[in-house]
Amino acid sequence: MEGGAPATPRVRSRRSSTLHCSRGLNGILLAMPKHLVISTSGNPESNSRIMGRVALAYLEKRKVDCEWLDIRELELPLCDADKCYANAGARKLNQAIHAADGILIAAPVYNYDVAAAAKNMIELTGEAWEDKIVGFLCAAGGMTSYMSVMAYANSLMLDFRTIIIPRFVYATGDSFEGDKLTDPKLETRIHQVADELVRFTTGLRSKLG
Ligand SMILES: Cc1cc2nc3c(=O)[nH]c(=O)nc-3n(C[C@H](O)[C@H](O)[C@H](O)COP(=O)(O)O)c2cc1C
Repeated sequence: MEGGAPATPRVRSRRSSTLHCSRGLNGILLAMPKHLVISTSGNPESNSRIMGRVALAYLEKRKVDCEWLDIRELELPLCDADKCYANAGARKLNQAIHAADGILIAAPVYNYDVAAAAKNMIELTGEAWEDKIVGFLCAAGGMTSYMSVMAYANSLMLDFRTIIIPRFVYATGDSFEGDKLTDPKLETRIHQVADELVRFTTGLRSKLG
């Protein structure tokens, strides 16, 4: 299967009207890559959302073009392969993913997998994920679920040829106090993944078109 039906017609909206450009090695002007951080936890006190916010703040500080989307605010339906694609939240999500070159998914680990809401997000948006570069920021309860994101990563790779950054962040509750990330090593790892995202989007941009 080549992914679910898209929520919007397959219009590529990769270039915004306020285009920022850089010159490639061959001297050709390239649009600067666009990035997106998506928070997928439904928990108002989510740790993965905190990680996503840290990544966003870091990318903004680096003056990288980056947007934020929290699917908790979109009131997304479950994918029914039918009416769900017309839902306003699903359409907004689809457009945001289409517009991005690189995406960081901040996700909770549930039952040795990424939470169902994050899977539903892919089912709702399908081909919007084609050829995107994706990294993960995972929040879990314990260390034993460390590899839980791999099935999700595989499905993105198999279905949409998504390029997965081979470095992801995995954190347990020990790294947080209230709504604050308190572990400097975790913060550094989030910055590293954000840097990797930009390195991949910048390096592969001219190749993927
Ligand atoms: C339904 C459910 C299933 C969970 N399953 C796991 C699990 O398999 N492994 C794990 O390490 N933590 C598990 N947890 C703990 C969550 O990963 C942890 O609460 C994490 O902080 C969730 O991310 P969030 O804070 O961004 O929502 C589970 C929590 C819930 C509510």
